[in-house]
Amino acid sequence: MKLLNFNNVSAAGFRNRGRKKLYLATFGCQMNEYDSQRIAQILHEKYVLTSEPDNADLILVNTCSIREKAENKVYSLVGRLKKFKKQKPGLIIGIAGCVAQQEGDRLLKRLPFIDLVFGPQCIYGLPDMLKHVENGMGAVLQTELKHDFLIPPVTAPLPEPNPVQAFVTIMQGCDNFCAFCVVPYVRGREVSRPSEDILAEISQILDEGVKEVTLLGQNVNSFGKKIGATHSFPGLLRMVAETPDLERLRFTTSHPKDISLDLMKCFRDLDTLCEHLHLPVQSGSTTVLKRMNRHYTRDQYLAIVDKLKSFCPDITLTTDLIVGFPGETDRDFKDTISLLKTVEFDQIFAFKYSPRPLTRAARFDDHIPEEIKTERLKAVLELQKEIGLMRYKSLEGRKEEILVEGISKKNPEELRGRTRGNHVVNFPGPQELIGKFITVKIIKACYHSLRGKTLIH
Ligand code: 5AD
Ligand code: SF4
Repeated sequence: MKLLNFNNVSAAGFRNRGRKKLYLATFGCQMNEYDSQRIAQILHEKYVLTSEPDNADLILVNTCSIREKAENKVYSLVGRLKKFKKQKPGLIIGIAGCVAQQEGDRLLKRLPFIDLVFGPQCIYGLPDMLKHVENGMGAVLQTELKHDFLIPPVTAPLPEPNPVQAFVTIMQGCDNFCAFCVVPYVRGREVSRPSEDILAEISQILDEGVKEVTLLGQNVNSFGKKIGATHSFPGLLRMVAETPDLERLRFTTSHPKDISLDLMKCFRDLDTLCEHLHLPVQSGSTTVLKRMNRHYTRDQYLAIVDKLKSFCPDITLTTDLIVGFPGETDRDFKDTISLLKTVEFDQIFAFKYSPRPLTRAARFDDHIPEEIKTERLKAVLELQKEIGLMRYKSLEGRKEEILVEGISKKNPEELRGRTRGNHVVNFPGPQELIGKFITVKIIKACYHSLRGKTLIH
């Protein structure tokens, strides 16, 4: 869970006086982080963020329903919030995001102390929803999902003072209907934002000092395919890459079926585009990929990897993987293991298959026993531990440019930065370096991070 949590906002010149306090907890993916950032912007006139739920006037939980475990975490947090309502009767509590969209009215029935339930598309109506509750007109439920929903521009300042990196949503929703995935049901159909809105938002955040922009979408590669857009995704990337003052550009997430040659060439041609691609494979077995409705085979995925490396030999590859998808045999699972050995990802995000409401795979009749899913997950994680460490070790001794993002998560005495290849580097250094580009020497590889030593600043 992440908190958009900025107690030092007053120091950054925000007008705190007279504003109420908002505790905003965010679960799940970067789309949710972006939505939470927007919620804070939308409420900026009236609310300032706090990290302490017990002194909040408004508590919002932005939820994720991608797997059952994620959903359960939400119920556990929301259950704990009930006591704050007893302590402070005027407190407003709301549930936003994908669980809100999925469960709707059931949430209000299950948790009657909740005042607001609203889906991802409805965040823009928050000021009106709050007025409704403040005027004593009862709880609000807003889960309308429009298939032609357009993300409106928001011009309020970013909630974090001196942000180093920011997300910009370029499209939302998804039309792919992978058999395991709830996203198309909770975030609706795929809609791209107009390029002008995207460029305007990027200019605004660069004016606020942001150095690195990550373009977001469930499937960025199909950007502009549906509306009469003037740009494809590589076209948009080329335009964004030329924005003055932009130092680093990233994007996520890509679907392998929509990766074009033109997109691969962007990694070779665009200086600001960082050499990292998150390319979810989900399974190494063509049979499973077909049942997942992924529209590519194992060999096609491997061919994309080869081609990418021919344009950008140093590219960092990361992936998502599901084990124990219904019907996955030992043979299928071995194919996943062998794909991991062939590609040698720097990092993987591996999950046990979790049946989701409304999805096609939840209705399959050949579900895999929990013990086998657990065993398979353990096996992929153990293998990846070795592969990841080997990949990270190959960076030892290298000089790397990093963007210093903040204080190290492991040691508050140290700083944390990120290489262009998306490797986290922890290193000792003064806080004035935050937000700056510096060169470090990589002195040691750890699992999922590197240790560095400052060379120039
Ligand atoms: N079960 C397990 N993992 C899932 N993911 C999506 N849906 C499910 C599910 N039902 C994983 C996929 C996706 C990532 C964001 O979450 O790997 O890429
Ligand atoms: Fe879900 Fe597949 Fe769409 Fe990704 S591409 S959001 S996994 S349906």
